[in-house]
Formats: sequence, structure tokens, C-alpha cells
Amino acid sequence: MEIIKDISQMQKTANTLKKEGKSIGFVPTMGFLHAGHLSLIEAARRECQTLVVSIFVNPLQFGAHDDFNTYPRDLTHDSQLAGKSGVDILFIPDAEHIYPGGYQTQVAVPGLSENLCGRFRIGHFQGVTTVVCKLFHIVKPDIAYFGQKDYQQLIVINKMVADLNMEVQIKGLPIVRQKDGLAMSSRNAYLNERERKAAHCLYNSLCRAKQMKEEGITQCSKIISAIRDIISAEPMARPEYIRICHPETLQDIEYIEDRALLAMAVHIGKTRLIDNCFL
Ligand code: PAJ
Repeated sequence: MEIIKDISQMQKTANTLKKEGKSIGFVPTMGFLHAGHLSLIEAARRECQTLVVSIFVNPLQFGAHDDFNTYPRDLTHDSQLAGKSGVDILFIPDAEHIYPGGYQTQVAVPGLSENLCGRFRIGHFQGVTTVVCKLFHIVKPDIAYFGQKDYQQLIVINKMVADLNMEVQIKGLPIVRQKDGLAMSSRNAYLNERERKAAHCLYNSLCRAKQMKEEGITQCSKIISAIRDIISAEPMARPEYIRICHPETLQDIEYIEDRALLAMAVHIGKTRLIDNCFL
């Protein structure tokens, strides 16, 4: 596995691969790799001739009170895992090179970025689209892989790619969960033992919602209130939002007619966790 830190070297390598006619699969990450990231890496490994993974904790997508400084980092472990998983190139740029002094340009998808997490994390998605756009220009992937765990991120990126005529195919892959259902996340590392148990209320409430839907309940307010009850019963949990919306427009819906997205953000102690499922 080759480790590239320099942006122009990554671009040159990508250009050479293109000339050789080799397809490039790309998995952008912020590191502290876990089974969720690995599922994207495995799919890209199967489907593309060259596999590039980036690790970059993007300051632009963290708010002033977010966890940029404490975000878990372990490059040694990440490189070992990436090497074992068949990654060809690990791209680890520095923040000073991605955003040099005088950097100005931003990429934004205002409509889809407004709801759900966007209401509470002002500027977050603009930070994501800006960095992902830059990474696409540097890595030049044919296919880029994202997780449905960050469902809103996935569809915001899809929209950016469509609106800006970017020549990259976006693939969204299912949420990887731990045995008890908790969605894998680098932020799970923040949870102590009691919080880890408390975090189970997210998955429990998704399961209850699915069950209610199967029982024929389609009124979203009823499902949301049942979820609130489950989460309120957990003293360490504080819901930020619980919404049922259209999976493409992300607009709230009153009744589930076709496929709907149930999405939530819940604070467990100081840790903010997100989860979602289709109903
Ligand atoms: P990060 O949180 O490291 O996630 C990288 C990719 O892994 C994202 O596409 C995310 O949706 C996916 N992922 C995380 N947990 C997952 C899980 N449990 N199951 C399936 N996929 C999962 O998302 C980011 O980084 C950043 O915003 C980034 C896109 C790299 C831009 O900075």
C-alpha cells in the first residue's frame, strides 16, 4: 500500500491510472476506521481496479462547539487496517494543504442541507460538500462509496454530483451495526460503559417504528411519539430530532404512503449519535 500525503502527487498518480485505463474506487473517511468503513472499502475493492481511501478530519465540517479537537484519531491502526483490506493508496493530506492561507471557495447544496442534521449543525454540510468536491478533484474517482448511516450526507453529495455534472458514480451502502444493533461510528469511542448501554435506545426505537409500520400504523406523529417515549425512558438520552420524511426531498411527511425515512439524532451524555432506517 502506498501512502500519499502530497496533493499534487495524488493528482499525478490519479492521472497516470486514468491513462492506463484503470478504474479508481474511492472511500473518503475521517479515519478511526471501523467495520462500517470496511464495508465500503470491501465493496470498492471488489468493483474497482484501484482503491483509494482518504483520511482527513475536515475542520470545515465541525462547528465551533463541535468535537474537532477530540475527534478520535489513530493513523497507525488505520494504516494497518487499510493495508490488510487491500487498499492501494492511502491519501492523508494535511489541513494546511487542503485549506492554505487565503482559501475561499465553498460548495453548498442549500435545500437538502437545511433539514434534519442541517438544522442543528449550521454549515456542516457545506463543509462536507466542499471537502468532498476537492477530494473528487484530487483523487478523480470513477466510483465513490458512502454509507447510509449518514443518509443526509449521501443524498446531499448525490445532488452536488448531479448539479455540477461531476463524472463520478456515487454508491450508498447499508448501515453496519454492532451485535446489539448500535450503528458503528467513530464517535462510539466516546461512550463509557453505561452510555454504551443507554445508546441501545436508538436501535430499539427504530425497531419499534418498523413494527408499528408493519402493524399498519402510517400516521407519522404516532410513530414519532412512541419513539420519544422509548428515548425519554432512558435517563442518559436526550433527543435532538426525530423525523419521518420523504427519502429524496427530506421534507417531513404526515402519513407514510410509500417509502419513508425515519432519521434521528440523540445525545447520550455528551456524545451525539445519529441513526436512521426506511419505513
Ligand atoms: P466518516 O464519518 O469517517 O465516514 C466515512 C464514510 O463511512 C461515510 O460515507 C459514512 O457514511 C460511512 N460510515 C460510517 N459509519 C458507517 C456504518 N456504521 N455503516 C456504513 N457506513 C458507515 O462521513 C465522513 O467521514 C465525512 O463526512 C467525509 C465524507 C469523509 C467528508 O469529510
